[in-house]
Amino acid sequence: MTEAQAAKPFLKWAGGKGQLLEAISARFPGELVDGTLRRYVEPFVGGGAVFFHVAQAFHPDEIVLMDANEELVLTWRAVRDAVEPLIKQLRTLLYRYMAECQPGQQRLFLDVREAFNAGRPNYDFQNPPDGGVERAAQVIFLNRTCFNGLFRVNSRALFNVPFGKYKSPRICDAENLRQVSGLLRGVRVECGDFEQAAAYIDRETFVYLDPPYRPISRTASFNSYAAGAFGDDAQRRLAAFYRSMDGRGAKLLLSNSDPKNEDPDDHYFDLLYEGFRIERVPAIRSINVNPGKRGAVNEILVGNY
Ligand SMILES: C[S@@+](CC[C@H](N)C(=O)[O-])C[C@H]1O[C@@H](n2cnc3c(N)ncnc32)[C@H](O)[C@@H]1O
Repeated sequence: MTEAQAAKPFLKWAGGKGQLLEAISARFPGELVDGTLRRYVEPFVGGGAVFFHVAQAFHPDEIVLMDANEELVLTWRAVRDAVEPLIKQLRTLLYRYMAECQPGQQRLFLDVREAFNAGRPNYDFQNPPDGGVERAAQVIFLNRTCFNGLFRVNSRALFNVPFGKYKSPRICDAENLRQVSGLLRGVRVECGDFEQAAAYIDRETFVYLDPPYRPISRTASFNSYAAGAFGDDAQRRLAAFYRSMDGRGAKLLLSNSDPKNEDPDDHYFDLLYEGFRIERVPAIRSINVNPGKRGAVNEILVGNY
C-alpha cells in the first residue's frame, strides 16, 4: 500500500512561506512540538504553507485560520465543505482548457476572469449560493492559469492579472484537494481583520503571523492583496496586537521582510518589536517588480518565547 501524499497548498499565493518553512519550523515553540499547546491560530493564512506543516506534524486540537481576503476564505471553505462538487467544476474547466490551443485557452481564461469579476458585486460571501463552489473553482482556475500565479485585485477589487500562457497547468489536483478537505475538517476558517483573531487566542495558543510585506523598496508595492493596502498604520496596529497577545501568554511568531536589506540603517521592525527576540534568516524573494532585485534577502522572524 502506498502512503497517502501529505496535503499541500492548493493556491500559489504572493508571500507564500513554502521556502521559509524550514527556518520557521525550526523556531516553533517546544510546547507545540511536545503537544502541550493545543490551539493554532493563523490570522494571515494566505495559501497556508505553515498551516499545512503544523496541522500534519502536530495535529493541534483546535485550528483557526483567518484572512481579510473574502475570495480566498470562500475558496478555503469550499475545499473544506464541498470538495467533490468543486473537483467536478474544476475538471470541466480543465477539459475545456486542454481541448484548446493557446488562443482558445486565452479566450477561456478571459471568459472566466470576466465572469468572476461580473459576479463580485452583490455576491453574498457569508451565505454563498452553491456553497461558493462555482466562485472557488474560478479562483483556483485563475490562480493556476494567470501570469505568475498571483491573485491580485485592483483598487476596485477586480481581478486583473493577465493570462499566463501555461500549456498544461494543474487546474484540478483532485487527490490533493481531497487530502486538504480532510485536513480542514473541524478547522474554523474566518474572514476578517487580524484583530478579530483575538477571540481565539489564549495562553494555550500558538499564533503564526505573516502579514503582507512592508514594501522592500519604494517602488515595490506587493502589499495590496486585499483592496485595502497594509501600510505603516496597519504594521503599528499589528505590533500593538502582538504586544497585547503576548500579555495573554500566547506563543507568537511573526515574519516580515527585513527593511535592512535595502537600508542597513532602517530599524523599523527593531523598534516596533523592541523587547522581543528578532532574528534574521535568509530567504529568496521571487516576487519583485524589478527582476534585478530577485535573489537573496533576509526575512525577519519575531518570537516572544
Ligand atoms: C504574506 S500573505 C500570507 C502568506 C501565507 N503565509 C502563505 O504561506 O501563503 C498575507 C495575507 O494577509 C492578508 N491580509 C491583508 N490584510 C489583512 C488584515 N488586515 N487582516 C488579516 N489578513 C490580512 C492577505 O489577504 C494575504 O493573504
